[in-house]
Amino acid sequence: MSLPVFGVWLTSGWEGDPGEVWCVPGESPGEALAWYRLNLPDLENKQRAFLIPVVHPAARRNGIGRQLLRHAADRAAANGRTVLGSVAVQDSAGAAFAMAVGARAGLVEARRLLDLHKVPAGEFARLRERAAAAATGYTIVSWAGPTPQEYLSLVAAAFNAMNDAPSDEGWEEEIWDADRVRDRAGRIVRLTGVRGYSVAALHDATGELAALTQVEVDPERPDWGHQGLTAVTRPHRGHRLGLLTKATMMEWLTTAEPQVERVVTGNAASNQHMIAVNETLGYDLYPPGWQFCEIPVKSALRAVPVERMTDTAAIDALAELFGCPPGGSTTAASNLSRLQQAFSVRYAISLAHQPPTSCGSTAGRMTRRTIASVRSTWSGPSTWIAASATGSSSERGRAIRGNYPNLGPTRSRRS
Ligand SMILES: CC(C)(COP(=O)(O)OP(=O)(O)OC[C@H]1O[C@@H](n2cnc3c(N)ncnc32)[C@H](O)[C@@H]1OP(=O)(O)O)[C@@H](O)C(=O)NCCC(=O)NCCS
Repeated sequence: MSLPVFGVWLTSGWEGDPGEVWCVPGESPGEALAWYRLNLPDLENKQRAFLIPVVHPAARRNGIGRQLLRHAADRAAANGRTVLGSVAVQDSAGAAFAMAVGARAGLVEARRLLDLHKVPAGEFARLRERAAAAATGYTIVSWAGPTPQEYLSLVAAAFNAMNDAPSDEGWEEEIWDADRVRDRAGRIVRLTGVRGYSVAALHDATGELAALTQVEVDPERPDWGHQGLTAVTRPHRGHRLGLLTKATMMEWLTTAEPQVERVVTGNAASNQHMIAVNETLGYDLYPPGWQFCEIPVKSALRAVPVERMTDTAAIDALAELFGCPPGGSTTAASNLSRLQQAFSVRYAISLAHQPPTSCGSTAGRMTRRTIASVRSTWSGPSTWIAASATGSSSERGRAIRGNYPNLGPTRSRRS
């Protein structure tokens, strides 16, 4: 996941849900040892929070993950949430951690990859024609970039159709309308240089949107296509519109983005219809997939004993970490309030694991650097200077080299 995409997700989530990011600073200013993002949905599922905790690989198995969980559970409870959900790569440290703290395993999402080198010339056109033969009375439209004004309410129908995709029990349906699509969908395309492609089928007789599929290409990894939402609205299922729109998309992509070598997607392992379409297009399984899980907030609070911290010094350290512009006063309280003003989501810190760095006089924003640091705990820095959370001073500051698997959070609504 590129830095711009990661930055948008970290600060405001995939779909603009409110949230909080908490962070444990590393030894050096601007570096993060551990962090989490807590999504706090504000439109539906308001009893739930969604947590992604990450600890730098070199600092794992020291209990920091438990502390992050406990802290996040506190924040979830303070926001009136009763259930904490999360997702981890199957068979990863994250999945083991989730089970160790008593989370219940939920939906399994299988990843699939379409290797364009293996697709015979003309295959997508052949599949499109085959599907079109079963889909009379529909017109294909397409656009690049954000959803045009005239399609906003039509596209909302496709988002509403996603409520029929398999999901874990207890999730409320999302209700989309034109305003929500304009404000909350496609944020990565609107806020970064990522290029978005959409192909839709409109029903000639009613003008309704019958099907939609979306793909994104990140200029920083232009050889990869990322499948976004694919949905066929209920009255129009069974007419091969899923295959028609996706085959049309792939034909378009091979000319608009000829450097794309592979497209990745993910579906609930039980989503047979979508998987059948993907397999027809040539997708193969690309493990590991994702394992969703959840834990009642009350259990998370009980399961993870941790001392309460009062950490004015840590708040000061955070002010430096996030490049909070220096003010007249350097008290923790004023730093915290300036931090809250400076960022749309609330950043704060409560884990006093780390010896706090002194509150600096760093002028200007360091968000990009900080986000880069946070991201590097996740997707693999080539070099990382970090201290073990419990390490002695002689262990601190050692350089840790290595490539860690990309454990970026699953993009919602792929198909
Ligand atoms: C998951 C993660 C946050 C855990 O951080 P951590 O600081 O290592 O966690 P803890 O030290 O508190 O571990 C608590 C328990 O989880 C279990 N656990 C954690 N990592 C494990 C692993 N790699 N293998 C087996 N069990 C593991 C253990 O039971 C551990 O207790 P123990 O060390 O006393 O045996 C960290 O591995 C990580 O950042 N992973 C990548 C992102 C991710 O998957 N996030 C989780 C989404 S649910």
